[in-house]
Amino acid sequence: MMHFLRIKGGAKLSGEVGISGAKNAALPLMALTLISKNRVTIRNIPNVADIKTMAQLLRNLGASCEFANENSLTIDASGVNSTTATYDIVRKMRASILVLGPLLARFGRCEVSLPGGCAIGQRPIDLHLSALEKMGANIEIKQGYVVATAEGGLKGANIVFDKVTVTGSENIVTAAALAHGTTRLLNVALEPEVVQVCEILAAAGVKIEGIGTSELTIEGSGGKLLKISDFEVIPDRIEAATYLCAGAITNSKISVTGANAKHLTAVLAKFEEMGFGIRISGDKITILPAEKIRPCEIVTTEYPGFPTDAQAQFTALSLVANGVSTIDERLFENRFMHVSELARMGADIRLNGHIASVQGGGELNAADVMATDLRASSALVLAALVAKGVSRVHRIYHLDRGYENLEIKLKALGADVERLEE
Ligand code: UD1
Repeated sequence: MMHFLRIKGGAKLSGEVGISGAKNAALPLMALTLISKNRVTIRNIPNVADIKTMAQLLRNLGASCEFANENSLTIDASGVNSTTATYDIVRKMRASILVLGPLLARFGRCEVSLPGGCAIGQRPIDLHLSALEKMGANIEIKQGYVVATAEGGLKGANIVFDKVTVTGSENIVTAAALAHGTTRLLNVALEPEVVQVCEILAAAGVKIEGIGTSELTIEGSGGKLLKISDFEVIPDRIEAATYLCAGAITNSKISVTGANAKHLTAVLAKFEEMGFGIRISGDKITILPAEKIRPCEIVTTEYPGFPTDAQAQFTALSLVANGVSTIDERLFENRFMHVSELARMGADIRLNGHIASVQGGGELNAADVMATDLRASSALVLAALVAKGVSRVHRIYHLDRGYENLEIKLKALGADVERLEE
């Protein structure tokens, strides 16, 4: 059943909204249970489609995945009897590649379908593969599958990532935890989601030095499965940024709760540069209206820089600033699909390669718009909150991949939004 969101623009927002667990932390952590010898219960799992897809992938491999409720998942990977991640799952979700490291480390072989291109760019996995080769894996591409073998298991190695890669770091850290000997990694991603993967492994007794830095030294268990304790997923910093943008674009005072402000430093600094007030109290972040919304200059980079996953939302927010904002997308070559849809609402945005110049202050009018990828879609929802009239955002299955109860949370803040069937 295809759904769309009907949004009537113009409502002021108020109140608080609870932030869910981070999808991008939960996915590698679910994959990581493949190297556990015991059942693991993961709490604060977000109830979103990508999590269901990863659970399906783990079940296909032979693991049991049981949801005690929408936000608590118990995985028992002791019975895994397949090492193949098939095309029909991987094509739904690129992050399926996260099973590559754990499967190869545990079984000494695996076959993972190549993710192929995706809407926001080419997104190769060469860095994952070359790191595994350094650890002794033999890798071939056969019929669209990565076929990896490592007889006798993976071996510790010295690896320098040519580029910072989030899922690449998670894959290799997890593989190194089960390898024979010591792995030294340089240029590791610093994202909080990568840090949590390291922390869960460390809590399972893996010796890891340098957690939270770009240089890690990991002592492998020599192929022995780990005893992983139950844990809770960190809050979703991108979801928090999105709701704060909803407050900002409507120039309303709203709060997000259950968030981690430390993970949002670059984002919160941009709100302040634009003239909004930010108040932090424990796990609650409040945004206060601006007297005059100033334009912004954004360059997306790796953590702790401004996240590419919040770029589309700030592009929408820039539409209500007084002046021209510049948004420079450095991570993905084609991540401005929201721009042509926003133009249908009257947005004045000029694209020059990877840089968008957003003329703020013009009137936005409601329209039928189409979601194209997860974060681009949230920009359309944000713009619809201030556009004159009733907008319809179609193909919201993209939003459902990563936002838990989106319309329920927006409604709780006072937005005039409904989910309807096409
Ligand atoms: C993760 C996030 C995604 C986020 C992105 C960047 C998950 C599940 N997804 O994606 O939401 O937008 O980080 O913060 O956590 N690259 C290569 N070769 C590789 C791997 C990456 O050239 O082998 C390039 C990519 O094309 C891209 C850059 O490195 O330009 C960063 O990509 P990467 O950090 O790997 O993104 P993902 O882990 O796929």
